Formats: sequence, structure tokens, C-alpha cells
Amino acid sequence: MLDLSKDLAHVRPASTLVGIIDVPPDKSIAHRSALFSAIGDGTSRIVNYPDSKDPQSTLACLRALGAEMRDEDEILVIEGRGLRGLKPPDADLDCGNSGTTMRLLAGILAGQSFPSVLIGDESLSTRPMARIANPLSEMGAVVELTDSHAPIRIRGNGNLRGIRYDVPVASAQVKSCVLLAGLYAEGETSVVERTPSRDHTERMLELTTVDFGDHRVITVQGGMSVRARTWSVPRDFSAAAFFLVAGSILKDSAIRLPRVGLNPSRSGLIDILRAMGARIFIEEERTVAGEPIADLAVFSSQLSGIEIDSDAIAGIIDEIPILSVAAACAEGRTEIRGAGELRHKETDRLHAIAVSLRALGIRVKEYEDGLSIEGGSLRGGTVDSFGDHRIAMAMAIAGLASSGRTTIQNASCASISFPGFWDVLANIAYGE
Ligand code: S3P
Repeated sequence: MLDLSKDLAHVRPASTLVGIIDVPPDKSIAHRSALFSAIGDGTSRIVNYPDSKDPQSTLACLRALGAEMRDEDEILVIEGRGLRGLKPPDADLDCGNSGTTMRLLAGILAGQSFPSVLIGDESLSTRPMARIANPLSEMGAVVELTDSHAPIRIRGNGNLRGIRYDVPVASAQVKSCVLLAGLYAEGETSVVERTPSRDHTERMLELTTVDFGDHRVITVQGGMSVRARTWSVPRDFSAAAFFLVAGSILKDSAIRLPRVGLNPSRSGLIDILRAMGARIFIEEERTVAGEPIADLAVFSSQLSGIEIDSDAIAGIIDEIPILSVAAACAEGRTEIRGAGELRHKETDRLHAIAVSLRALGIRVKEYEDGLSIEGGSLRGGTVDSFGDHRIAMAMAIAGLASSGRTTIQNASCASISFPGFWDVLANIAYGE
């Protein structure tokens, strides 16, 4: 399916998807487990650390900061250096394509007594960074951006000031950045969140969260030691999402997705797809290392269009590209509003989705903060991933549901979060 020499994926129409799919471990939890292990007190173990590119960028940065790690029987072992034990890096810290690496690490680096520079690839170097530089500066770090973007030069301050920060955008990365800097601050640091974003940081660090109904406040105590632990990374809901949609839109499909993370701040797509008519079943719900997981099963169904407003967006922030493919195959119109944050992801995802679905034969209207998608017939064609892993994979699923062939340019970026995606697809899709 993937022609590596030209970086093209050729996707043929499929009538059926059948199989059991082991999606990769969760990117968000993996980044955090590595970061918290490196600044932890003692030896931590991480079971199921992913080999996808973004989590590997986090490991590379941590190694450059002196964290020692090794592989023991496929378990990643990290020797924690404690809050103050990281070493000055010899070179700029390369976060690759990973916004989570850059923004969370910036919080830790703001509390160090040595300077550091965070860099990223072309896409990451265009993403907004003032959203972390502002609170970190308020806490007493010197953070210099390059025209509001990376490279980020940080002159850390071993004695930051604790602040109360009202996060202006629903962003788990900004929230986590401030909370991590709060570990290095005098007194308490609180983050006020008006729209709940994914809560892995507060769960994993066991921080206090008080819910006031219309907002919640998460508090970290400066100097709090981070406990060494054994982490177990569940499978990534955001990766499973591609198959929840694929199984729904392709006739005669039956797919099982074992051990998928089902954190309620992440799994909004299930409610939305069910409201559209999807047949998704959650089985064997259990909690592993503080995170809910379950086995998911999905069967073909006829979907109908839906209206999605801003309240739902944070819970499906990474799933909107694939949800748009579901909308393209649904009966009637789907409206997605309040999703302006998508313009600041690995690419401008609202624009990328609109251009790509139109190229495959779907009528799409683009708003500043969303999309209006008329369900119709996907006919296949040539689309570009815009270098964005989630656009590449969403368009692959659209290709399966198309009447003609689809070619995806710059397709190998799927490995940012899902190495082996093209092989999985080839193994479970059956033709006409
Ligand atoms: C992430 C938070 C989200 C999400 C990203 C991972 C995280 O970004 O889109 O893929 O692990 O904290 P924002 O916090 O910028 O919304």
C-alpha cells in the first residue's frame, strides 16, 4: 500500500473490514510517563512504551538532559534524576514534530538552573508558543521565542514563583506545562480550566483537582517529589478512532480493538458516533495504572449527520479529521463549530480536511471555527497529508470507503503516531 520511494500510499476501495487490531500505545500518556520518570525519585519502569516518532522525540530530549534509560525485556527502565538532577544539554533539544514534547518539556526546563533551546521540525516551528511563554515568564523564567514560535530559548530559574493561571485556550499541553513548572515554584501553582482538556497529567501526578461546575482548579505544590513508578501505557484511543469510523462506514465490517484507553476526557468520539447511529460496544472495562481501558467492538451501520458545538470539541480534539470522514459518509449534513484550535495543530486541520474531502468528491464549507460537511459519495482521487499524520490516516479510511482509487501524498508521516498503519490496513481490508 505504501510506496516508500515516492512517499505515496495507494488505497483501493474496500467493501469490508474484519479483524482484531492492536493499535499503538497512547502518545499522550507515553510522553508523560517518560518525563515524570526522568524527574522522578528512583527507578521507573514503563510497560508498552511506543516506538512511534513523537514519544521517541521525548526520549531523545531526556537522554540529552542526562536521563539514563535502558530496555529490560521490552520494558523501558528510566533512572530518575529527581527534580533538580537534569544536566545541561550539549546541543539544542530537538522535539521533532511533537508539540507535547516541546510544551511539557518547556515547563520542566523553566525550573532548571541552566539555559536550554527547544527546536522542532518545520511544522512544529510554526505552532503558537506564546501560550506557554506567557505563563512561564509570569513565573519568573526568561523565555525567548522566535516570532512567537520555536526555537524557544529558555533561561531557567531554579526558584520560580507560584501563580494562579487561568488558561485562555482549552489545552492540556499548556495546562501541563504550567503544572510542571509549578513543581519548581515557591508555594502553590494553580491552573484554572474553563473547558476541561485531557487530564493525564493531573491523574498521573495525583494532583488535587477541585471541580466548581463551570470551571475546575488543578493545584501543584512546589518541590513536590515525583514518585518513581511502574507505568503501563494503554493503547491509544486516538489511533483506535480511525477504525471506529472505518468499521462503521464500510458494510459488513466487524472490528475488535483490545485494551484501548478510555479516559473520559478523550473518548468523546464514541458518544458522537453513537449519536450518529454507530454500533460501538465497550467491553471489559477496567482500570490499569490509574487509566480506564476497555475492549472496543464496532460493526457497520448507517450514520446520520450531526451538529457538534464548542462544548464537545476538547474531548474530540484529535479525532476531528476522522470524524469528518464519518460525516462525509453520513446521510445529511454535519456541522462542526467552535473548533478553531484545529488551525494550530500539525497543520491547519480545518483547511486540510476541507481541501481533501472536496478532492474526493464531498461538498464541504469551511468556517473560521469549523466545517459543514454534506454527506455524499466519496469517489477517490489524489490528496496530500499536509505532513500531518492524522490527515494521512483519515484520508486512508476515506479511500477505503471511496468508489475509485485514492492516492495519498506524503503518507509515511502516519508513523508519527502509528508505525505500521499501512500494513494493518492492508491486512484487514477486503476488496469489492
Ligand atoms: C495533547 C494535547 C492536545 C492534543 C495533542 C496531545 C497532550 O493538544 O491535540 O495531540 O498530550 O497534552 P492541545 O493541548 O494543544 O489541545
